[in-house]
Parts: sequence; structure tokens; C-alpha cells
Amino acid sequence: MKHPYLIKITDEENWLFPTKGYNKDGSIGEDQRTIVLPEGMDRRYCFTDSVMRKSEAPDGPLMTHEHQQGYETFFVESASMYFYINGKKTLVEAGKIIHMQPYEAHSFIFNGDVQFRGTFHDWNCADDSLATSTLEKHYPDAKKDPEFFSLLCSNIDLHMRGIADCEEVPAEQVPNVKDPKNPMAKFEINGAVLKMITARWENGGKKEIWLAEMEPGFYANWDAYPGTQDLFYVTEGKIKFKVYDEEFVAEKDCLVKIPKYAPRSFEVLEQASMYDVGGITRWYALLQDFTALKKYKPEEATKEAYDQLRAKFGCQVAEYGKK
Ligand SMILES: [Fe+2]
Repeated sequence: MKHPYLIKITDEENWLFPTKGYNKDGSIGEDQRTIVLPEGMDRRYCFTDSVMRKSEAPDGPLMTHEHQQGYETFFVESASMYFYINGKKTLVEAGKIIHMQPYEAHSFIFNGDVQFRGTFHDWNCADDSLATSTLEKHYPDAKKDPEFFSLLCSNIDLHMRGIADCEEVPAEQVPNVKDPKNPMAKFEINGAVLKMITARWENGGKKEIWLAEMEPGFYANWDAYPGTQDLFYVTEGKIKFKVYDEEFVAEKDCLVKIPKYAPRSFEVLEQASMYDVGGITRWYALLQDFTALKKYKPEEATKEAYDQLRAKFGCQVAEYGKK
């Protein structure tokens, strides 16, 4: 039976609308499943899991595509890939993350079978997952039909851009490639390191994605009735969560999806890495402002001042640290 808050991504029971993508020659290019459907005005929280099959670069230039509304963030979890973006080509290895905003022309060549996990907002692709999955039950080869495929692309805001002339550069020169070892911003707190992976200004102001690398004994307790839901992606370690009165342990390959208003807390059992992919809290503003206050006006850096900043920047984590 499905757990109400803990979603093991590798468990087929949690795969919504499993489907395949096809190459032009009819071979399978992608095994894809939706794990969490988008919700709310900004269509956020959407999470997908794909295995992108090894692909060959064409002899000549590569075709790229763009989205005109949606924001995509992909976790490259195995093998490596070439990423073509805005006239650049770069090698992206496992453990890195790529992020794309609207109108950024992109394409990929996969050097092996790549576990490719995505989270999105302001994008409607999941609506079509349900419709496509139903169509494929009746017409299994529908996606191989060029007429249907071009209709699908236009309906999910996927627009072909034509061939691209891409110069190969190191990943560090491509701002769309995010390296958790070298994040845009990093804050060390008692028992954890918080790393900003995508910034709010890269997400149309809607969200920011953070990675928390946490030691055993690190804990977080939320306000009594948090007004927003949470979606966490755990890639390492063991974390014991409590949601309402239910306790459970999240580990590698798990999502934790917590409904709004649900009382929640967690404690790290084994050194853990966890991404906040819901991303509503303005952690960058909060941590940056309070760090500056501590440095320049330490007498004003009180718990009351922190709580005022917490309210200002929508942070509903009431306390955290290492026991
Ligand atoms: Fe895309």
C-alpha cells in the first residue's frame, strides 16, 4: 500500500503514467514516469523520473528545442551526458544538476543510460501525461506517429528551434550546470551545510532549490501549522520524519511530500543529503540577512530578530540545529 507522505521513487507502485519516448528510427529513447503531479497556481512540486537511453551524437549539428513558459531542473544521477544550451556544449557528470529557464534552447546526448530526475514549475506537461497514457492504452504506438508527436510537443510547450552551432566549454562556464560541490551560496549552521542550487531569480521568483548536507543528530521542527506543503528529495543517508503523529524513515531515492497545515519535524539518523525541491522558503534572503546582522550588528542578532526575518521571508522552520 502507498505511504501517504513517503514516496520511494524506485518502487513501481509509485510510477504514475509510465511511458516511453522514441527516437526517429522507432527505438526507445526514454523510459519516463511521473512521480508527483504538479499542484497549485504555479504548477509546482511536479517530479519525474526517467531513464534516458544512451544516444549517439549526429554527424552534423544537433537540433535544439525551447520552452516558452516552463522552468526545468534535472538531477543527473548516473553516467554522463553532453548538454547543449544557448550555443554551448558541455559534459555533465553524475551528481550534477542542470537548470533551464524559458527560451533557453537546449538538447542532450546521453553517454550511457542516465537516471534523469526532474522537477518543474509553470509547466503543464503532466496534464498531458494522463491524456497520453490513456491514449497509449488504446493506441500503443501513438507516440511513434509524427502527426501525434508534433501535436503533443506544441501542447506541452516544447518548440523546436532548429540546428545549433555549439562551442564545447567546461561545465564551470555554463551557468545552467549546478555543482553541489561548488554552489552559488553556502551557509554553515550547527550540524548542517545549506547550499543554494538554483536561485529565486533563476525561477521567475517562484522558488529556489536548496541542498542540505546534514550530520546525524541534526533536527528541524516546524511551526504548529505550516501554511505550505513541502517536497523533499533525499539522495543519501537516513532521516526520521514525523508528520502529524506518524513516524517514518526517508533514505536515498525517496521523496517526502507533506501536505499543507500538517505538523512536521525530522531528525537525521545517518549523514544525509536532502534537496528542498518545493522551494517556497526564501532561505537565501533569510540566511544572508541574518548572517550579515550577526557580523556587523551582533547585539541586534537576537532570536526575536531572526523570527522577524523568518516571518518576512516565509520560513516556517521554527528551530533547527544539532542535538
Ligand atoms: Fe526541454
